[in-house]
Amino acid sequence: MENKVVEEKQHMNIPLMIPYKMGNFHLSHRVVLAPLSRQRSYGNVFFQLHAILYYSQRTTKGGLLIGEAIVISETGIGYKDVPGIWTNEQVEAWKPIIFSPSALGLYMVESLNKYDIAYCHVVEPRMKTACEKIECSKSLIPLRKAYKGTFIVAGGYDREDGNRVVVEDRADLVSYERLFISNPNLPKRFELNTPLNKYNRETFYTPDHVVGHTDYPILETTT
Ligand SMILES: Cc1cc2nc3c(=O)[nH]c(=O)nc-3n(C[C@H](O)[C@H](O)[C@H](O)COP(=O)(O)O)c2cc1C
Repeated sequence: MENKVVEEKQHMNIPLMIPYKMGNFHLSHRVVLAPLSRQRSYGNVFFQLHAILYYSQRTTKGGLLIGEAIVISETGIGYKDVPGIWTNEQVEAWKPIIFSPSALGLYMVESLNKYDIAYCHVVEPRMKTACEKIECSKSLIPLRKAYKGTFIVAGGYDREDGNRVVVEDRADLVSYERLFISNPNLPKRFELNTPLNKYNRETFYTPDHVVGHTDYPILETTT
């Protein structure tokens, strides 16, 4: 009990670890998995086993995961091997992950419409090149003010930038992609302020299920 109180107090010092209420959902922290195209569903049929592993590695109790892009018709295929949802076979392939407890975060996101919950997820043009960051912290303020629901920002954020945007109330939540790919338990790393694994850009879009996706070292913790 005492430990819990101490832990809660520590969390208040890390803005990204402050719980957030998004409609009916009580998020336990503000580190969101950003939407990404995994391009690992060969022939447009969702590849369950590896996807369940991928999402469950990134699931935290009370964390929000935004799922990968889903193609709704054959004419809408923008990238190779993205999962589709226009044939019965494709629909069936989605069911286990949606009802898998370990992929609860994904299920929550898929359910948002049903619960009439809306959020606004914006990607800021913070990256001038792949490595060079520019600050444009003010650019989203009008949007932030105009939007009444949950406001999520993304684009080149690290731990410090994320904490700053939350504490300055420029966003409710911060989503991470590249750092989340290479650091499966990114929230824990931010909480403990541990070093981060470097991401490998070369394997972002390669079709292997393991290499560059589920083989990044997981931080071992006792909690
Ligand atoms: C491999 C990869 C795939 C992505 N796929 C998508 C996508 O399908 N849809 C989307 O809206 N954004 C996609 N993004 C963009 C991310 O959601 C995010 O906005 C972007 O990477 C900036 O955040 P970061 O600096 O934390 O990586 C992708 C990014 C990466 C690295």
